[in-house]
Amino acid sequence: MKRQWWQDAIIYQIYLRSFKDSNNDGIGDFKGLISKLDYLSDLGITALWVSPHYESPMDDNGYDISDFFKVSEDYGTLKDVKEFINEAHKKNIKVIFDLVLNHTSDEHEWFKAAKDPVHVDHHKYHDYYIWQKPKYDEAGNRQMPTQWLSWFGGPVWEYNDLTDEYYLHIFSKKMPDLNWRNNDMKRDLKDIAKWWINQGVDGFRVDASNHLEKNWDFPEGHPGYEHFSGLPMHHKYLEDFGIEVFKPNNVMSMGEAGNATKEEALKYCGFDSNEFDMLIHFGHCWADLDFSNQVTPGKWSSGKVNVRHIKSSYDKWFKMLNGNGWNLIYWHNHDQPRVISHYGNDTSYRVQSGKMLAYSLYLMPGTPIIYQGEEIGMVNVDYEKLTDFRDVEVYTEYKNFIQAGATHELAMNTLRNRSRDNARTPFQWDESSYAGFSKVTPWIKVNDNYKSVNLNSQMNDRNSIFETYKELIKMRKAEQLNDGIIEFIDIENEDAFIYINETSNAKFLVISNFREKEITVDLNIVNSGYRNILYNYSERELVNVMKLQPYEALVYKMTK
Ligand code: NOJ
Repeated sequence: MKRQWWQDAIIYQIYLRSFKDSNNDGIGDFKGLISKLDYLSDLGITALWVSPHYESPMDDNGYDISDFFKVSEDYGTLKDVKEFINEAHKKNIKVIFDLVLNHTSDEHEWFKAAKDPVHVDHHKYHDYYIWQKPKYDEAGNRQMPTQWLSWFGGPVWEYNDLTDEYYLHIFSKKMPDLNWRNNDMKRDLKDIAKWWINQGVDGFRVDASNHLEKNWDFPEGHPGYEHFSGLPMHHKYLEDFGIEVFKPNNVMSMGEAGNATKEEALKYCGFDSNEFDMLIHFGHCWADLDFSNQVTPGKWSSGKVNVRHIKSSYDKWFKMLNGNGWNLIYWHNHDQPRVISHYGNDTSYRVQSGKMLAYSLYLMPGTPIIYQGEEIGMVNVDYEKLTDFRDVEVYTEYKNFIQAGATHELAMNTLRNRSRDNARTPFQWDESSYAGFSKVTPWIKVNDNYKSVNLNSQMNDRNSIFETYKELIKMRKAEQLNDGIIEFIDIENEDAFIYINETSNAKFLVISNFREKEITVDLNIVNSGYRNILYNYSERELVNVMKLQPYEALVYKMTK
């Protein structure tokens, strides 16, 4: 395959709402983003993935789209979007937009027609969504078609009295799922994507891409995820879409999907695949689940970070795609907690663990995605009140926790630890009010630590997390780390994260301690010229048995 731009890219994810507010309405926008393009370009970023910017009632911060062709007033105008694309291109930065194909907002014109039998377009649009008649119990009470659970915690069904039917929503009830068995609907979605391609975008991140097909027998199940996730037919839908929209227009596409076998991985993003170019996979995320907790179940309970699990997920993906596809590497996005709080230590070791996590990931091959604020070591929220949170998921889950017997205290701790809002607070630019994000109260509270954690104080400080990221990005490009071959060492080790990335010119050895305690690693590596080029404590010579301090990390280079 001809070398593609995305194989050499350094992608940065912009959560637009929280990046930079230009018009002082408390919400990030395109003009704010444009004003920071120099910053991003200096950092070495070559592609930006921007969270959904379309018209939306913002039930799920824009993943609930009411008009795919319009730009949300919160974020600016189509003129601003075009200016953003132009300005980014002038700086050799590619633009990747979020493409939401699984659902719309319930305020989308399609859904308004679909739910209302007297609407002139009812017959056309009813079938754009997924409807089922109610069931009735023996006493004649109306029941939902199944007990399936939505990803945001409640039931997947919402009753529509106008048609006496339930509609399916696997996210919030304001996000009805589209019916991918309807050809007109697919045609419309393809036209939407083509329209944005004509505005100049270089790529798409395809939201919820493994959920497009549903089991239309609607078998009973609880939570029932297997009936609306990863069903074989979604590959066919994605392939058709790719063949008609992405490939002929030469736009990059990256999907998202949970687990995959080798066969599936290659279907999604093998070099010969027509579905995607790359895949955002989640195997390394949530590597600390505690399944014993029934009060705050699933992702909401954290145990010890399973370092082996993180390594083996990456190892698996590198091996599955080896030579036949291209891997993406990232720590987290807007759906997970901040990585330092999650896998590092945001109290006594914020800087050390932040650098350790950076070395551990960004020396790997593949294309990296850096999440906004990660480069300055932003951490989880410190919110005191439930109303400080904004995420729709938080409110459903809070109720669930309380119903299951959690105290308010426990529920709040859980949200501070695990909710998606942790990653969604305003970018901390400087020490001025609202962290320089806006001049007015932002849509979501700034993290209280902004006076000590902000970009301004870290720029030009050789020891800062920010300068570490800058250096790593420079090194990735200079050393062509994207192209290397990775080999994990002592992959079974429960505390250490050790690997070699071998490029055509050199070998890079990364040794990290993921724990808050001292550990000893027995490397069994012949030191034939390894030089210590990066460290988060102090420079050290490589020896076979090394004692590592809490969160200590070292990078060695051996030129071939
Ligand atoms: C995945 C997105 O990343 C998440 O933020 C969103 O809530 C769901 N898909 C639904 O669109």
